[in-house]
Amino acid sequence: MQIIDGKNLAKKIREEVAEEVELLKKDRDITPGLAVVLVGDDPASHAYVKMKARACKEAGIYSITHEMPETISQSEIEETIAMMNKNPNIDGILVQLPLPPHIDTTKILELIDPKKDVDGFHPYNFGRLMTGLDGFVPCTPLGVMEMLGAYDIDPKGKDACVVGASNIVGKPMAALLLNAFATVDVCHIHTKDLAAHTSRADILIVGVGKAGLVTEEMVKDGAVVIDIGINRLEDGSLAGDVDFEGVASKCSYITPVPGGVGPMTIAMLLKNTIKAAKERK
Ligand code: GUN
Repeated sequence: MQIIDGKNLAKKIREEVAEEVELLKKDRDITPGLAVVLVGDDPASHAYVKMKARACKEAGIYSITHEMPETISQSEIEETIAMMNKNPNIDGILVQLPLPPHIDTTKILELIDPKKDVDGFHPYNFGRLMTGLDGFVPCTPLGVMEMLGAYDIDPKGKDACVVGASNIVGKPMAALLLNAFATVDVCHIHTKDLAAHTSRADILIVGVGKAGLVTEEMVKDGAVVIDIGINRLEDGSLAGDVDFEGVASKCSYITPVPGGVGPMTIAMLLKNTIKAAKERK
């Protein structure tokens, strides 16, 4: 069994991004810029946004965070997005989710200029992903594909199982695997017999947010197991959706939590931001 070291891979990618940013500045006078919208006081969202801002700074990417109170109106967020769409110094726009329940999230995401949609959440980019066209791909599933590539794991012809069917993780993950010629099962809360699907998978990808959901007997011998879940346990420690100790003994590759997929998400955001800057200018 080999551990897929997302932390180290992400570090390498962030160094490569920093080098590319330096060249963009020197050769083309381009400083990539990212604008982040952060609404409310959710501590996890604040922590993620802080990590994203720090990663930008380290890579030489300009970033600005628009912090808004929980009580902000739909139209005020919309006006902020419209302003960022027009701002020539901003290449990427990211709205940290979730937004408060009184906000229409779909409408907000649809307002983002698809050319600045570095999270890949706009239906335009999702449609391009589904049809196999170039566009912006959500950072977490993109990071998973980068990890598979770095460890020479080719999905072609493999049975893959994605557990979780969210718009920002499960669905784009399934599309990427399909585009890479895997045979893909997508499981969700209404799946009748989860183990029947997971135990067939050569590549098992889990992103649900339920600690210990996937246990040893649900995993095929020699499978590649990618754990996207991040759960805070009662003792304050972090755990994924996969029972790491049990599953690690029978799979060929596994990602740890923390230090697996999480750091890759931020590295992919930086990559998407320089992609946006290069394509716009
Ligand atoms: N909330 C949870 N994950 C994400 C993410 O990847 N991007 C944004 N914008 N919000 C999130």
